[in-house]
Amino acid sequence: MPTKGYFPTEADLGAQGAKQKTFHELAAATTRKHFGNKIFVRAVVEISNFCRENCHYCGMRRDDKDLHRFRARHEQLAELLIQHRPASVTDVNIQAGEDPVAVREIALPLIKTLSRETNLGISVCLGTLTPQLYDELQNAGASIFIMKFENADAQQYELLEAPGTLDERITHIRLLAEKNWNVSSGFIAGLPGQSPRDLLKNFELARALPLNGCSVSPFIPGEKTPLAKFPTADPNETFNCVAALRLMRPDWVIPAVSAFNLAAQDGYRRGLRAGANLVTINLTPDEFRGDYIIYKRDRFIMTEQRVLDAVAAENLEPSKMSLADFYRRKKLNVVAEKIPVSA
Ligand code: 5AD
Repeated sequence: MPTKGYFPTEADLGAQGAKQKTFHELAAATTRKHFGNKIFVRAVVEISNFCRENCHYCGMRRDDKDLHRFRARHEQLAELLIQHRPASVTDVNIQAGEDPVAVREIALPLIKTLSRETNLGISVCLGTLTPQLYDELQNAGASIFIMKFENADAQQYELLEAPGTLDERITHIRLLAEKNWNVSSGFIAGLPGQSPRDLLKNFELARALPLNGCSVSPFIPGEKTPLAKFPTADPNETFNCVAALRLMRPDWVIPAVSAFNLAAQDGYRRGLRAGANLVTINLTPDEFRGDYIIYKRDRFIMTEQRVLDAVAAENLEPSKMSLADFYRRKKLNVVAEKIPVSA
């Protein structure tokens, strides 16, 4: 299978057995060619589970009036990240439900403290915000924005009550990229009613967007969501999507998401074998973890040990360079290439 200009087919996304093995090996080899055996290691802190959105797939949707809502204290998180982060962590992702109060009161002060006191690269995953807030986050020191488009079919997007409209989401992704953010997006594979053709549309959209990375989340039926009765995503299809993303965009950063472990035994390792090159250690304080339920109460928490064991078991190594520095360097290289040698 040639990788130049690769775009997946329905057959690729449905591959099984020997065909699938070859497909994933090609994706893994492509990853090694671009990133060696290094895997980016970031921490995530989940700072608030308040959410003004109502996504049918998500356990933190606003209609769940029974969920205990929390906001963390930025001082506590700063202490944790400055004094007690694992040595392998080079970046932190600050994540929340869509809660502008938490952006102002927790994320911004936390980012300012971390930029002042550490070399950590800073990513945020905080939903669709105002351009002013994007600027404030960037000025505080964040450089990577995670904004998932979730589902490339506008009609399904609307039915699922995903954030705003698909058009608006795409506009925000483009705006962030124009403002010099490194943008990573993502979609959910195996949503109820998603046909193979629908799944492919996610690749068409991802390919057209100004991204540095993209995730695939296997659909996990959330206990108290309208989609509770639907089946979990097919793990084969999920990891085929990872391999296809890698072959489509050899230089993208593709995360192994914790939901891989909910979709399959050894899911995290299978993700790494299909071309993922970013892992995440969950450092959310214990007291909050239980209420940050994207899927279900019984979360599969990726601890430092689990993450590093999976990386080592695949003969890979934590990257010493942060994701933020990696992107910075890449941009400098692009600029350098544009300057004529004689200049
Ligand atoms: N299954 C898979 N992914 C989900 N997400 C939320 N709920 C689910 C689910 N049930 C993903 C979405 C969201 C991110 C926080 O988690 O992509 O943006």
